[in-house]
Amino acid sequence: MKLKSLLFFLVAASLVSSAAFAQAPIVIKFSHVVANDTPKGKAAERFKELAEKATKGRVKVELYPNSTLYKDKEELEALQLGAVQMLAPSLAKFGPLGVKEFEVFDLPYIFPSKDVLYAVTEGAVGKDLMKKLESKGITGLAFWDNGFKVMSSNKPMHLPADMKGQKLRIQSSKVLDAQMRALGANPQVLAFSEVYQALQTGVVDGTENPPSNLYTQKMHEVQKHVTVTNHGYLGYAVIVNKKFWDGLPADVRTQLDEAMKSATKYANAIAQQENENSLEAVKKSGKTTVYVLTDKEKAEWRKALLPVQKDMEGRIGKDLIANVNKEAVKLGFK
Ligand code: LMR
Repeated sequence: MKLKSLLFFLVAASLVSSAAFAQAPIVIKFSHVVANDTPKGKAAERFKELAEKATKGRVKVELYPNSTLYKDKEELEALQLGAVQMLAPSLAKFGPLGVKEFEVFDLPYIFPSKDVLYAVTEGAVGKDLMKKLESKGITGLAFWDNGFKVMSSNKPMHLPADMKGQKLRIQSSKVLDAQMRALGANPQVLAFSEVYQALQTGVVDGTENPPSNLYTQKMHEVQKHVTVTNHGYLGYAVIVNKKFWDGLPADVRTQLDEAMKSATKYANAIAQQENENSLEAVKKSGKTTVYVLTDKEKAEWRKALLPVQKDMEGRIGKDLIANVNKEAVKLGFK
């Protein structure tokens, strides 16, 4: 009798624990550095919603926006170590990781329109770039758009000469460094989470970012001038730890892939409008002037910055730059 009840207990205990095990959700920690109220922040929320619904709760996505978990380059290290499973770093972040080809996205004026950008990210060039991440233990899932960058500073900026001698915050990117130097400015690398304070205290004079990042970080409150230069692009690669991704049950991976596809459509559909709204909100705040370049001034900025494309050929790859430019030609540019 005693043995019987012991056996009963053991069987019951193992059933309970295996049921608990079966129900423990797979957790995806998704860290990023921007505010929730940005194209990236909103798309991450959409992915969470879709992923949890599609997997009927088998997957739980924990979002960590605004550098709450990791800042800039720490993010990638954490992903490689498996401390976090998903990220959406800006494309500039892969150069320092040794995948310099991604810096093609940082080249000034490389995308004459969003259509050209999409032709690149959704075509062969985008696929090839994502493949390059595998040797780093990273699987690339999608490209998410943000937008073209504006310049901000405490001085009016109409011509490239106005940037001369200004200390400007950049992401860690050799291309962005070369870009600022081509303007005669002094680039300074800082983590995104440190930019507001650096601007406020005068550690740097100005910076570049799409309006959605500028506005949601309140940078306009500590910058007197914004110029709509659209001189460069900022977008993201949504990435996962490869080992984690490959180890998922196949049906879960398929459901997550589908959720990512929908979240990506959403991200790319809202980016433009979100940035326009942010620029409007900056104007309405009355804290900073927003200047739009004349055609003549635009031509001066292009003249100053286009040589960076040529200068960076050796680093990024002549063929890669040519392939991006080919997409532009196909779509009727140049
Ligand atoms: C930046 O550091 O300026 C951007 O990469 C932030 C971001 O992720 O949009």
